[in-house]
Amino acid sequence: MSDEVTIFEVGPRDGLQNESRQLGIETKVELINLLNKTGLKKIEVGSFVSPKWVPQMANSADVFGAIDRQDDIRYAALTPNLKGFEDALNAKADEVAIFAAASEGFSQKNINCSIKESIERFKLVAEQAQQSGLPLRGYVSCIAACPYDGATLPRQVAQVCQQLFDLGCYEVSLGDTIGVATPKQIRELLAALLTEFKPQQLALHCHDTYGQALANINTGLELGIRTFDSSVAGLGGCPYAQGASGNVATEDLIYLLNGLGLHSGIDLDRLIEAGSFICQALDRSTQSKVALARSGNQAS
Ligand code: HMG
Ligand code: MG
Repeated sequence: MSDEVTIFEVGPRDGLQNESRQLGIETKVELINLLNKTGLKKIEVGSFVSPKWVPQMANSADVFGAIDRQDDIRYAALTPNLKGFEDALNAKADEVAIFAAASEGFSQKNINCSIKESIERFKLVAEQAQQSGLPLRGYVSCIAACPYDGATLPRQVAQVCQQLFDLGCYEVSLGDTIGVATPKQIRELLAALLTEFKPQQLALHCHDTYGQALANINTGLELGIRTFDSSVAGLGGCPYAQGASGNVATEDLIYLLNGLGLHSGIDLDRLIEAGSFICQALDRSTQSKVALARSGNQAS
């Protein structure tokens, strides 16, 4: 198994979409410019979704336009439909992501259509992405459980993964949207998925609501997964999954990988600086244990 691990930083999108406070363009741009200096190679900058649904992402085009782009970093965007794709293309996103769910309840609440309808919409996005030469990523939400429908079966996840690969996704990110999965569930899910897909086709996107994200990621590592989504300072959540907290903090993930002797190419100190900047801007404390420990402010 490879020693190289890819981190997909989703903080500027997943992290900031859930903030009650509307953040200005300058703050988002500064966050991404700080992330540019950490060694990250993939950063999800924003989403091109309805501003009525997610007002916090309404300025994504302006953010794309103002960041200090680096040639060796891919700046990504979520695109739920053709309009979103066209906006992402105009904003010069380097790659786009379509996002489906393994459960009907979440699909309806998040993107206002059934899973089947979402795949039909995504087909149009996939065709355009291919024509424009943009890499297409897929997400499957609620891989372990759905806030509306309860437990999710591995078979449901596998079906949606297959549909996303059929549309041309180079990778599917498996989202534990409400952060309830435990390592046993992740092991069983991945064991099932890895009978159909290669580990290089899959990424894990763990929210940390129940504090299981690092344990789940470690399980993924043991089974050969080498791409993980994470959010600087552990920001985030989904507006359509009430109570779900942020993604695993990128700082904590890097500390884990460093301890395991795995290489991400990311500078932990610079990452902590980026996390500290956004926490100050949001006037909130970091969710990263590592950042807390390094600041000497750990709770006693
Ligand atoms: P809809 O209301 O069914 O769509 O929403 P519609 O086609 O009927 O359009 C309604 C209005 O939205 C129209 O405007 C459209 O122009 C506009 P109006 O005529 O009313 O003024 N519209 C758009 N505007 C801007 N950009 C667009 C767009 N599309 C339509 N792309 C829709 C359907 C999908 C648009 C809506 O449900 C939506 O925007 N949902 C976004 C949900 C979202 O962003 N959720 C969070 C991200 S997913 C996530 O966090 C999970 C993840 O992290 C993985 C995990 O953790 O599991 C990825
Ligand atoms: Mg998420």
